[in-house]
Amino acid sequence: MNAYRASILYFSGPAQAVLESDGLLVVGPDARGRRVVQALGPYDPLHRHYPHVNVQHLPGRIIAPGFVDMHIHYPQLDVIGSPAEGLLPWLEHYTFPHEKRFASPEYNAQAAAFFIAELLRNGVTTALAFASSHPASVDALLGQAQAHGMRMMAGKVLMDQHAPDGVRDETEQSLLDTEALIARWHGVDRLGYAITPRFVPSCSEAQLRGAGELAARHPDVWIQSHVAENKDEIAWVHRLFPQARSYLGVYEAFGLLRPRAVYAHCIHLDDEDRALLRDTGAAAAVSPTSNLFLGSGFFDYVAADRVGHAYGLASDVGGGTSFSPFHTMLAAYYVGREGQTKPGISLPPQQLWWQHTAGAAQALGLGGVVGNLQPGCEADFVVLNPSATPLLARKTAQAGNLDELLFAMIVLGDDRLIEKTVISQARSPGAIPA
Ligand code: GUN
Ligand code: ZN
Repeated sequence: MNAYRASILYFSGPAQAVLESDGLLVVGPDARGRRVVQALGPYDPLHRHYPHVNVQHLPGRIIAPGFVDMHIHYPQLDVIGSPAEGLLPWLEHYTFPHEKRFASPEYNAQAAAFFIAELLRNGVTTALAFASSHPASVDALLGQAQAHGMRMMAGKVLMDQHAPDGVRDETEQSLLDTEALIARWHGVDRLGYAITPRFVPSCSEAQLRGAGELAARHPDVWIQSHVAENKDEIAWVHRLFPQARSYLGVYEAFGLLRPRAVYAHCIHLDDEDRALLRDTGAAAAVSPTSNLFLGSGFFDYVAADRVGHAYGLASDVGGGTSFSPFHTMLAAYYVGREGQTKPGISLPPQQLWWQHTAGAAQALGLGGVVGNLQPGCEADFVVLNPSATPLLARKTAQAGNLDELLFAMIVLGDDRLIEKTVISQARSPGAIPA
């Protein structure tokens, strides 16, 4: 067992954050050998219950749950910051040409190592990721995640039409490859597989049908795709499926809406779509830096909460502009302020933080597993240094309550705020180097 003494942030309920200002986090193996939170509470008196446990003291630091990124593209590491008129030209001119490189095992090996390191440097300990259409890209990504003991779900992109040579796959083979990758990776260590139709325009009816059949045969496998991101994209889907009630309705028709199905963006939905997400147990991955960068539009928080479907935050790198959960939370705040029916809302910092940790975990079907530090949760956490920069130090020192502290970190934070990321199943999990 290991224990850590610091300020400790956790959630006692949805969007209800608690800061144990002089806390103790005790971590040790559960019956299955997973390293989980055994206890969390005030240092005094909790440490008396663990007299023989080695306590690492982290004065001035905050331990918080590792962040959960609900939607990110591993092969778009180098696509960040590629400007375009909108989603479709961005895919054509930057994204598809770049993703061709992931046919090469050598290219994958270095990119996967960099990608995982960048997630961890930014405090992201769980992610649901798109790989490229090449099965080797999944092997590279999940292989790297496994080497770090990280919890990661990923899938080979399905895209058998409207895409160039080099990334377009072949219907039958793409489904065989998906089946083989599920068998190879799903449920191995902390890894999961996600059936990954890119979006409706890039998938033939046969490929969508095959994806739905695989999803029915493997109910605990994830599904990930994009929906209702951009007006031109939606018009294209309408031309392809004129009989469908909506874009989201196409996925429904192919059996691709269910718990553990995660749809990025969900911007241009109506309430019938939102009710469909709610009633099927599917979730939205809200990607504000991407939506602002590509000019796609704004997620409607008020409508989502009125109807009551699941959602959480995501970077959507490389449409998104940052790996940093702080940047994503701040962009979500801007969307709340300006992207809603007036007068706009001021998303509370505990709500923003929840959406990128325990709330995102819940939307992924991993509630109580990751994203929080309640006893029983897998012990993935970050060590925050609220004095990491002069301005952070000055601002956080003046915080009069938890909301002010969290807001200071959301607005001023980036990778410098993450002093250390600790993965519960890492090869040497206990040590936090000074
Ligand atoms: N729609 C289809 N593919 C993509 C992608 O790679 N990024 C984003 N943001 N939207 C998509
Ligand atoms: Zn995306």
